[in-house]
Amino acid sequence: MKIAVLGAAGGIGQPLSLLLKNQLPKGSELSLYDVAPSTPGVAVDLSHIPTNVSVEGFTGDEGLVKAVSGASVVVIPAGMARKPGMDRSDLFKFNANIVKGLVEAVAKHAPKACIAIITNPVNTMVPLAAEVLKKAGCYDKKRLFGVTMLDTLRAETFWADATNSCRCSAKVPVIGGHSGTTILPLFSQAEGYEKLSADQIEKLTLHVQNAGTEVVEAKGSGSATLSMAAAGARFALAIVRGLSGEENVVEPAYVESETGYASFFAQPLLLGTEGVKEYLPIGKLSSFEENALNGMLDILKKDIQQGVDFVNNN
Ligand code: NAI
Repeated sequence: MKIAVLGAAGGIGQPLSLLLKNQLPKGSELSLYDVAPSTPGVAVDLSHIPTNVSVEGFTGDEGLVKAVSGASVVVIPAGMARKPGMDRSDLFKFNANIVKGLVEAVAKHAPKACIAIITNPVNTMVPLAAEVLKKAGCYDKKRLFGVTMLDTLRAETFWADATNSCRCSAKVPVIGGHSGTTILPLFSQAEGYEKLSADQIEKLTLHVQNAGTEVVEAKGSGSATLSMAAAGARFALAIVRGLSGEENVVEPAYVESETGYASFFAQPLLLGTEGVKEYLPIGKLSSFEENALNGMLDILKKDIQQGVDFVNNN
């Protein structure tokens, strides 16, 4: 199976490619693309790691065609990251054309690929990509994902710490979208929920919603790269496992949804040989979570519309 990473020379792209080089199944092909001329060099660097995963690096227009042709999975972390004082939505004007161009190339040269978009604002980039794929006549909602996995990693880590449980076994569904209040961890469904007060739950929820900004402020330039690489690798590997026929592969992502809350929504998914095999229910919410869900929907719908309009009004 061929897995392409577009934006592979960046802060997320490099550690993500490293994790994939080390963790993809034997015989996989890892294909790296970035506008940065160093990309073939990144591939040479990775090629010295003794795993049975081949790696090639490309740049330039022809390089993009080679990078994506025949790919089963395309992961996109290409584009600008936040700096202190920026919201994810501020990135739209920089990243919309980047994602549009890359998805157009995927539509042409790997129309059946599962596409996982990391580039922010995820809430808007995924509907934008859906419109690009529709125009190219190859949209399959089961194969297009916005990567919200990092919100889950954060929710699980913070939950484990707050409840004194093992970080390796905490399970917290996170639904909605990937920005501010649209990120909604469902702590009421986590083991040990009864141990925490309403006040603690509210603080933990805010911590998950602001965790990205915490990293941006702590770094002073750029946003989460290493934890995002871990999240991106976990999600890309889950898609690969599903495509390979493994059963019971469940991970969350932001997809065209059947929940009825908004046309795109992050929720748990059962992954399979065609991408999404089943959209799993979000389960029962506490009244705090119900209110938070109702409060986010206008923002989410506006974000979605921006992506749709970008493609159809240009
Ligand atoms: P970065 O600036 O370190 O890397 C971005 C890379 O994209 C650069 O190597 C650049 O050359 C490349 N690039 C730019 N235009 C391109 C094009 N047309 N084709 C291919 N490559 C292109 O940024 P970083 O930190 O890696 O972040 C990337 C994106 O991921 C940002 O939009 C950021 O907001 C987003 N992000 C998403 C998260 C999520 O949870 N989904 C979490 C953290 C960041």
